[in-house]
Amino acid sequence: MSDVKVGSRTVAESQAERSEIIFPADSNALGNLFGGRLMQFIDLVGAVAAVRHCRAIVVTASMDHLDFVAPVHVGDLLILKASVNRAFRTSMEVGVRAMVEDARGQTLRHVSSAYVTYVAVDREGRPIQGPCVVAETEHQKRRYADAGRRREMRAGESQRARETRAALGAGWHV
Ligand SMILES: CC(C)(COP(=O)(O)OP(=O)(O)OC[C@H]1O[C@@H](n2cnc3c(N)ncnc32)[C@H](O)[C@@H]1OP(=O)(O)O)[C@@H](O)C(=O)NCCC(=O)NCCS
Repeated sequence: MSDVKVGSRTVAESQAERSEIIFPADSNALGNLFGGRLMQFIDLVGAVAAVRHCRAIVVTASMDHLDFVAPVHVGDLLILKASVNRAFRTSMEVGVRAMVEDARGQTLRHVSSAYVTYVAVDREGRPIQGPCVVAETEHQKRRYADAGRRREMRAGESQRARETRAALGAGWHV
């Protein structure tokens, strides 16, 4: 693992937001946003927060607790908000919340949320250490603590992923 200067950054410093109007090309047979496209939006906005936090290249290691709460319709205004909940050694948990904005009623309807783990890497793709997260508000502190619990739950999955990579070997291709 390469050495980089490690400091700390507040949650607010890296928060990211993305807005999308949903077009028919992104819809399924029911005229609702295709789930895979929503996952892409989630990954993209989460990556922006992760990059802002560690100021390095990041790769997506995993996405979990992805809930599709309600459908998103063609023509909807989709708002996605991402915050780095907690940084560990080289990885970060980013929480993403997707909402549909009713511009006339000025309301937001929660449609999906996910926790995405990104790993900061150097130009050769090797994990590098990043800054710590400073949680300032009560809400951020709760999410910070929850992220620690989720990491423990994820540990077995990370180990399984490591074993899969080791079994495939460096020269493995489809
Ligand atoms: C993610 C990746 C960088 C991990 O590299 P690695 O050499 O296995 O490194 P390590 O085992 O030391 O793990 C590095 C960190 O990733 C975390 N990690 C690895 N696999 C994980 C998983 N499945 N879920 C969550 N975190 C994971 C580890 O917990 C560790 O975090 P920490 O440093 O904060 O403790 C590497 O597997 C990779 O490049 N994967 C492909 C990523 C990619 O291409 N994403 C886009 C998909 S198309």
